[in-house]
Amino acid sequence: MNYRHAFHAGNFADCLKHALLVWLQAALQRKPGAVFFLDTHAGIGQYDLEGSEAQRTGEYRMGIARLANPPLELADYVGLVDQLGLYPGSPALIRARMRPQDRLACCELHPEDATVLRRRFGRDAQVAVHERDAWEALRALLPPTPRDALKRALVLIDPPFEAPDEFARLAEGLVRGHGRFPTGVFAAWYPIKHLAPPRGFHLALRQSGLRDIITAELWLREPLDASRLNGCGLAVINPPYGFEQAAEAILAALLLRLGTGEPGEGFRVTRLVDE
Ligand SMILES: C[S@@+](CC[C@H](N)C(=O)[O-])C[C@H]1O[C@@H](n2cnc3c(N)ncnc32)[C@H](O)[C@@H]1O
Repeated sequence: MNYRHAFHAGNFADCLKHALLVWLQAALQRKPGAVFFLDTHAGIGQYDLEGSEAQRTGEYRMGIARLANPPLELADYVGLVDQLGLYPGSPALIRARMRPQDRLACCELHPEDATVLRRRFGRDAQVAVHERDAWEALRALLPPTPRDALKRALVLIDPPFEAPDEFARLAEGLVRGHGRFPTGVFAAWYPIKHLAPPRGFHLALRQSGLRDIITAELWLREPLDASRLNGCGLAVINPPYGFEQAAEAILAALLLRLGTGEPGEGFRVTRLVDE
């Protein structure tokens, strides 16, 4: 486990994932019923972009730093980031908008990161921090309990993609999680370095028997150099009403600000599998 998100916090991939996450959370909260949030790869929750890790890579300069004075489509997300001060990761973003009836479970396998996360949320009765494996947690923490109170869920799966079989594990994890809680909304982030792995992932999802899947992808350049993060995507199962249109608008706004002008940049929102 070498991946540390502190080096990458605020990069364009975080912006895509978090802007869509903020929209998904708001969509689930249109109804008053309680929502269970499961963040399977949580990281440490907040990041100091002035700190040595973020400064070493400077990735945030091509990401969140370019979103000041955002257009309407990004205003909710960027407003929340600004409001939270220290740059928020997914658990902090989710927690900021939780209502009294909502619950959040965060899983983080790296012992040091889990300790930081536990310290951050230690006294918070609405948040549970687990130092445990994400893939195992999808079985153990779904369906949410108590079942009568928590009938809806948003599951964010955001692996570091260090292992060569991470796309296969992600597809399996989605099938497993969905099997445990078929009405849950599942959002899975994935990298686009070169085209074959994400296309294989799409095929695995199409063949999995899962229904109602939309992917939202952004490329900074043509995905030819497999050593670079050329783009990324979010696959959403059971997307709330209006996700396709909202994702189109969010991605278009992100590309305007984060685009590099290199050949092949673009975005696409695709209905991968029908309802
Ligand atoms: C991309 S980062 C998460 C970033 C976070 N979701 C956010 O948006 O702010 C991935 C995290 O997953 C953790 N991790 C790696 N393998 C894991 C596993 N099998 N189970 C749980 N966490 C894991 C890493 O330590 C890392 O902190």
